[in-house]
Amino acid sequence: MANEMKASYTVGSKSFTAVAISAAAKAGEWIRSKLGEFNQLNLKYSSQDLVTEIDKGAETMIRKLIHTHFPDHSILGEEGVEPGPAASAEALMKLSDAEYLWIVDPLDGTTNFVHGFPFFSVSIALAYKGEVIVGVVYNPNHDEMFVAEKGKGAYLRGKKMSVSKETKLIEGLIATGFPADQQFAQPINLKGVQALAPKVRNIRVAGSAALHLAYVAAGRLSGFWEIGLNAWDIAAGALLVQESGGKVTDSAGHPYSLSVRNIVSTNGLIHDEFIRSLNEAGASGF
Ligand code: IPD
Ligand code: CA
Ligand code: CA
Repeated sequence: MANEMKASYTVGSKSFTAVAISAAAKAGEWIRSKLGEFNQLNLKYSSQDLVTEIDKGAETMIRKLIHTHFPDHSILGEEGVEPGPAASAEALMKLSDAEYLWIVDPLDGTTNFVHGFPFFSVSIALAYKGEVIVGVVYNPNHDEMFVAEKGKGAYLRGKKMSVSKETKLIEGLIATGFPADQQFAQPINLKGVQALAPKVRNIRVAGSAALHLAYVAAGRLSGFWEIGLNAWDIAAGALLVQESGGKVTDSAGHPYSLSVRNIVSTNGLIHDEFIRSLNEAGASGF
């Protein structure tokens, strides 16, 4: 009886991708409408880990939408997890048996949002038995919806995306970020910046890991790395890069999986040189 009731409340038979796109679009538009208008600014894991009521509201909105269409699916959302690397890893572990798992960062780039720096995104991925099959990253500031489906390519505004063509690190524009973990991750990322800065064309640190990954997919960046990320920062963007012909591994060169926290993603052509440089500098985080 309970199941029958549940089934009757399921709306239509929308595709996974359509639901991901619609949730990202709705949340993203709402977030953008709140730029400069949030009321609560709180700290989470460190003085550099910010959260607002907009992060939480966006996640609630996305969860509701997903569960309206797929009430039996599991959801891992940043705002449903205690702050800090250990709690994130544990939350992912607890959901490792989920058949369908949605992985949601409702607002990737909260610091930018708080300061009115218009570079942030909504990141939504769906994994089937641990493998990401849909990835959507939406930048409401540029109205850019980056969409990938496993085995079907990645698209922006209906156009198939391809990674860039640089073959040497020195020709590459790359990006990184600084997670809220000032003890472990921050010094290692700084070491990576110091090692890579003389070896690349330039480095950008724009403040949204998911959007950096989408930019690698779109060929706007040659590569992106960051030590100490969470599953929700990476999942959607990793599929975007892979489906655009790029490569995604951990910083030791092992294939990407949901538990990867130290990520290197490139156009594929500069991948080995990238990983070698990080490792030679002791900046891989392992
Ligand atoms: C952060 C952003 C930032 C990255 C941090 C993330 P949040 O996510 O992606 O670019 O450097 O590691 O934590 O907290 O804004 O969702
Ligand atoms: Ca994030
Ligand atoms: Ca976030």
